[in-house]
Amino acid sequence: MDSYAVDESINEQSADPNPINQFQRWFDQARAATIPLAEAMNLATTTPDGKPSARMVLLKQVDDDGFVFYTNYQSRKAAELDANPFAALVFYWQKLDYQVRVEGSVTRVSAEESDEYFATRPRESQLGAHASPQSEIVADRTVLERRYAELEEKYLNVSVPRPEHWGGYRLRPDRIEFWKSRLGRLHDRLLYERQPDGTWLRTRLAP
Ligand SMILES: Cc1cc2nc3c(=O)[nH]c(=O)nc-3n(C[C@H](O)[C@H](O)[C@H](O)COP(=O)(O)O)c2cc1C
Repeated sequence: MDSYAVDESINEQSADPNPINQFQRWFDQARAATIPLAEAMNLATTTPDGKPSARMVLLKQVDDDGFVFYTNYQSRKAAELDANPFAALVFYWQKLDYQVRVEGSVTRVSAEESDEYFATRPRESQLGAHASPQSEIVADRTVLERRYAELEEKYLNVSVPRPEHWGGYRLRPDRIEFWKSRLGRLHDRLLYERQPDGTWLRTRLAP
């Protein structure tokens, strides 16, 4: 489908005054359009000396408190977030030609919240979380496969506990921008900025 055929604009009248509600609306549309991995988002962090790094992660929860993803607390992204707890997310849903940009501060979710989510994961992923020292150099693949096999033995017939070094982060948005392509490249861009009193200021940006 030509993405420009979906000419549903976002405008000051139709957009929800609350950007989380607006995100939910678009996210629901993306899932209804069966966009593969609609929950996939690009996460950008920075090194202590201000060099950005980016990778994809999966959105596991979104509500008024923010956007939640899960990862390894000893990974490169975690080290960067420890040093600078600010990050940006980008979603792009091609079939609808929607982009959403989110920026804000990041904190770890509670251990209980991570335990709860970890328990819902497939066993293979749980074992993988134990087996993989994410972002570290490994000599070769057999190192990981050997670790995985050892862990399969260790946790035979028992549930796999969450490793302490694995859990969630929550990005609390300060800025959320919704972008929708329009004819003639006069795209719509609505920006929401959190105000000191907790309300959201909405403005339009030039494309
Ligand atoms: C579609 C997609 C989804 C991903 N989801 C996650 C995720 O939710 N958590 C995660 O730790 N890594 C995820 N990854 C792997 C990351 O992109 C990345 O390789 C890994 O987290 C290590 O990143 P880092 O070395 O910058 O910490 C995903 C990759 C892809 C392509």
